Amino acid sequence: MSEAVSVKNIGLRGVKVADTKISFIDGEQGILIYRGFRIEELARESSFIETAYLLLRGALPSKKEMDSFTRQIVEARNLPEFVYESFRRWPKQSQPMDVVQASIPLLAMADPDLLEETREANVRKAIRLIARLPQIVAGWHRIRNGLDPLPVNDRLSHAAHFFWQLNGTEPDEEMARDLDTCLILHADHTFNASTFACREVVSTRAHMYAGVAAGVGALSGSLHGGANAEVMKMLMELESERDIPGWVKGQLDQGKRIMGMGHAVYRTTDPRAMFLKEMTQRLGKKLGQEKWSKLSEEIEEASVKEFEKRGKPAIKPNVDFYSAPVYHMMGIPADLFTPIFAMSRIAGWCAHIIEEKFAEAQDKPMLYRPSTEYIGNYCGLMGCTYEPVTERR
Ligand SMILES: CC(C)(COP(=O)(O)OP(=O)(O)OC[C@H]1O[C@@H](n2cnc3c(N)ncnc32)[C@H](O)[C@@H]1OP(=O)(O)O)[C@@H](O)C(=O)NCCC(=O)NCCS
Repeated sequence: MSEAVSVKNIGLRGVKVADTKISFIDGEQGILIYRGFRIEELARESSFIETAYLLLRGALPSKKEMDSFTRQIVEARNLPEFVYESFRRWPKQSQPMDVVQASIPLLAMADPDLLEETREANVRKAIRLIARLPQIVAGWHRIRNGLDPLPVNDRLSHAAHFFWQLNGTEPDEEMARDLDTCLILHADHTFNASTFACREVVSTRAHMYAGVAAGVGALSGSLHGGANAEVMKMLMELESERDIPGWVKGQLDQGKRIMGMGHAVYRTTDPRAMFLKEMTQRLGKKLGQEKWSKLSEEIEEASVKEFEKRGKPAIKPNVDFYSAPVYHMMGIPADLFTPIFAMSRIAGWCAHIIEEKFAEAQDKPMLYRPSTEYIGNYCGLMGCTYEPVTERR
C-alpha cells in the first residue's frame, strides 16, 4: 500500500487519479484529442456517430463497421411507450435535466442486456443510450407543451432526427451539420466532473445506467454543463446593455462569475470555443441575427480585458460560451441546451464507463475510495456521551 498523499480541498486539480486511453487535453496550448485525433480534424471531417464509434471502440470504423453501427443506432431510436406515459404524469414545469436524469433508470428497466457485464453487452447499452437520449429531450419538450411525441424517422441523420423530433420539421442540411459538429465537440473531455462521477459509480460494479444517471446530475450544475443555459440568460439580460465593460466590471466587483468564461484545465482559449465562435458568426449572418455574435464577442473582449487587469489572464471563453448563441439561433429553448450537451457527452460517458469496468487502461478494476480528514466534533475514541432527548436541554 503506497503512502497516503494529502491533496484535500483543491477539487483534485492537477491530481492524476487514473490512466485513460480515450482523450487528452493540453491545457496550456489549447489542444483536445479523442483517441489520438485532434478535435478540429474530427469536427471538420467526422460525424457524431462516427466519433461515438471512435470513442467506444478506440479506432475509426471501416465503411462496413460504420454502416452497421449507424443501423444499430437508428434501430434503437424508439423509446419504450412507458417512458412517454411517465412523462405525461410528470409536472410540466420539471427541469429538463431532471427529466433526463429520471429517464435513465427508465431506460435501464427496458434494457434486455442490463445485467450482462460483458464488453459487447455494454456497447449495446451505449448504443441504446446514444440513440434514445435525443427522443427523451425532444419527447419531454413536446409533452410539456401539450403536444404528442413524434414517431421516429429512419431516414434522418442523428442531428436532423433530433430537430424533427423536437419541431416536426426537418432542418436544412447546414443546420443539421452544425448541430452534428456541436455534438462532436462536446462528446468527451477527459476526467471532467460528470465523467468522473460516471466512472466512480461504476467502479462499485453498478451498471452503466447507474453511472450515466450520476453523470447527468453532475453535468446539470452551472459550473459544468449548466453554464450554457446561464450564458443565454446573460445574453438576454445584456441584449440592450450599452456599457458591457461596465457590466463585466460590476459583476466581478460583486464576486460574481461570468458564465462561459474560464476552465479548470485550459489556460488559453478552449479549442472548441473557437469552432463555435466561427459558427455563431456564420449563423448570425445567415439568419440575420448578427446581434448575438456581436454581443458575445463584446462580452468576451470586455471580460478578457477585465480578467487581465485583475491578474487572471488565463480566463478565456470555454465551450459553453459560444454554444449558447448557436443553439439559440437554431431555435432551441435555453433550458434544453444542457440536455443537448448530455446527448453528446453520453458517448464519452459510455466509453469511460467501459474503460473503467473492463480496466482497459489499468491492471485491474479498482473501487474509488479516497480518504478525508475529520475536522468535526471529537470526544476521543470512546465517542461522545449520548443523552436521551428527554434529558437534553
Ligand atoms: C469552470 C471554472 C469552475 C473553473 O475554475 P477553476 O480554474 O477551477 O478555478 P476557480 O473556480 O477556483 O477560479 C479561480 C479564480 O478565477 C476566478 N474565476 C474563474 N472563472 C471565472 C469566471 N468565469 N468569472 C469570474 N471569475 C472567475 C475565480 O473566482 C477564482 O478567483 P479567486 O482566486 O480570486 O477566488 C470557472 O472558470 C467558472 O466558474 N467558470 C464559469 C462557469 C462555466 O463557464 N463553466 C463551464 C466550464 S466548461
